[in-house]
Amino acid sequence: MPDQAIDTLLSEERRYPPSPAFAAQANAQPEIYDLSFEEFWEQEGRERVTWFEPFTELYRWERPYAQWYLGGKLNVAYNCVDRHVEAGNGDRVAFHWEGEPADDRRTLTYADLQAEVVRCANALKELGVGKGTAVGIYMGMVPEAPIAMLACARLGAPHTVVFGGFSADSLSDRLNDMGCTVLITQDEAWRRGAPVPLKRTADEALALSPGVTKTLVLRRTGNDVPMTEGRDHWWHETGSEADCPCEPMDAEDLLYLLYTSGTTAKPKGIAHTTAGYLVGAASTHHYIFDLKPETDVYWCAADVGWVTGHSYIVYGPLCNGATSVMYEGTPDYPDKDRWWEIAERYGATILYTAPTAIRAHMKWGPEHAAKHDLASLRLLGSVGEPINPEAWVWYHEHIGGERCPIVDTWWQTETGMILITPLPGITTTKPGSATRPFPGVDAAIFNEQGEEVGPGGGGYLVLRKPWPAMLRGIYGDDARYKETYWSKYDDVYFAGDGARIDADGDYWLLGRVDDVMNVSGHRISTIEVESALVDHHDVAEAAVAARADALTGQAIVAFVTLKGGVDGSVEKLEELRSHVAAKIGPIAKPANIVFAPELPKTRSGKIMRRLLRDIAENKPLGDTTTLADPSVVDELRLRGADEAAKDD
Ligand code: WTA
Repeated sequence: MPDQAIDTLLSEERRYPPSPAFAAQANAQPEIYDLSFEEFWEQEGRERVTWFEPFTELYRWERPYAQWYLGGKLNVAYNCVDRHVEAGNGDRVAFHWEGEPADDRRTLTYADLQAEVVRCANALKELGVGKGTAVGIYMGMVPEAPIAMLACARLGAPHTVVFGGFSADSLSDRLNDMGCTVLITQDEAWRRGAPVPLKRTADEALALSPGVTKTLVLRRTGNDVPMTEGRDHWWHETGSEADCPCEPMDAEDLLYLLYTSGTTAKPKGIAHTTAGYLVGAASTHHYIFDLKPETDVYWCAADVGWVTGHSYIVYGPLCNGATSVMYEGTPDYPDKDRWWEIAERYGATILYTAPTAIRAHMKWGPEHAAKHDLASLRLLGSVGEPINPEAWVWYHEHIGGERCPIVDTWWQTETGMILITPLPGITTTKPGSATRPFPGVDAAIFNEQGEEVGPGGGGYLVLRKPWPAMLRGIYGDDARYKETYWSKYDDVYFAGDGARIDADGDYWLLGRVDDVMNVSGHRISTIEVESALVDHHDVAEAAVAARADALTGQAIVAFVTLKGGVDGSVEKLEELRSHVAAKIGPIAKPANIVFAPELPKTRSGKIMRRLLRDIAENKPLGDTTTLADPSVVDELRLRGADEAAKDD
């Protein structure tokens, strides 16, 4: 974020104190901050989950590896489903599901969910899945996605969910890295009125993933898809209602891997284990969303393919017995009021979404929300990227009717749970600030030298103590785990985000400080996009940087040198964008491509990314004295300016 923007941010003077009525009924009361780290997590470990065998040791911290709730035995699916049915809440709605096509709706109670999870778990067993079998899940936003995840958890089979927008290559890389032998997918998904060919893409991926020998395929759109005899099995033709006991799992058994972009071309398999993850997700969900399971209708409008979907559509809410809304499609299909129509229909009380979505609604205008009665809403949340104060205030006014507290929640795939957030009913919020560390979370801001900065200071966000849902490592790559998170400072987790702390001690998250971009709340690595570009036969060299974008937060700008020094055409530009989409997924398509005869390099031949960032941002250039050929930059600036003009 440019310095000037940061100063404007920190001069934000609007304050939103909690209303006495909200405070009086809130799950979080001020004393929560008085509990010690141990007291808080001990209490949460006992209150949020049901153990088959209780834990005997709260945590063990063998830096940089933590273990939590040692000795405990439990099953995540039992906690998220069966125990609610056993407690007499089988009739409570777990999901109000809304398909994208009009009038395509389903309601699943907890009893329905239990029956479906058992059926799917039995189907997986028939395909040879048992404790420890790695299973890939490549689906859209259908109830069967959480059902598949829970079926895996029931059997003790770790899963990796791959976002349905990822390409065959991305899917195959993840399946291979985890060693998956089974893939769960669907014929097609609906998106903006068109079918998305998930099975076809899965088939392409499986050609590169011979380790996957069985698939389970859900029929969603019903269009014909090729099925491979002996390998592919229809969801509706397999499984049974026969008893399927929940496998007792050790607290530290692997629950899932979720791949996320880092600063190299290869995504990292972030490992989350059973007990600590579930306690962390459920505890944060309980206090931050103030969930009252009997009366709330909670809607997290993320996709299950991302960590927000894992922790706050599936594991946290279901563990807490929540009634959730789940929606398959895009917010503007068939009309721009689709979300608000859904919120009104189910009487949503809590809405959790990303700033990019809020900015899109802002752009479309408040009249779409105004057509619907949103009086049921009582709490709003934001996640995934810094929220600009204008979007925050718009959300508060036009969606929250000026009565709903907003929780701006900072966290990561790696953290598994929200770590910095207001607590509704306690915290006075400021538009743009994620405010405070959650109870039991020891966050700080360090300067370059590793000293903690006080109020008014800025630097890097770090965590000094472990937390239950923290990643247990990067799958198969200990060295990278240590290098990425634990090498900048000794024994302190480095999140990769810049942050400031204001005079009141509130945190302001300023975005990534590494080569990770954040486009519409999705993490994309510059190097990953560069590798996809140089994979194209006409590309000699590519460098990628992000620029600020009013809608998507950041947008990807690629600087490309074509082979033989030829100049790029509009057709070539489109071809390269499509190539990136095919290699990674449409979310990674560069917004702009600047063709250049040469990229700026140091005399030792390293591409000067800092300069490219400045060019992409149209900022004054810093020191260029180390450049091998300074004229390259002038040329690029000219071309970059042309691109920007085209974009407008
Ligand atoms: C960014 C998403 C500012 C941050 C849950 C982090 C945020 C990255 C916020 C993780 C927020 C997430 N304010 N920035 N409230 N929430 N981020 O792994 O840069 O997809 O490091 O997890 O998103 O993205 P991830």
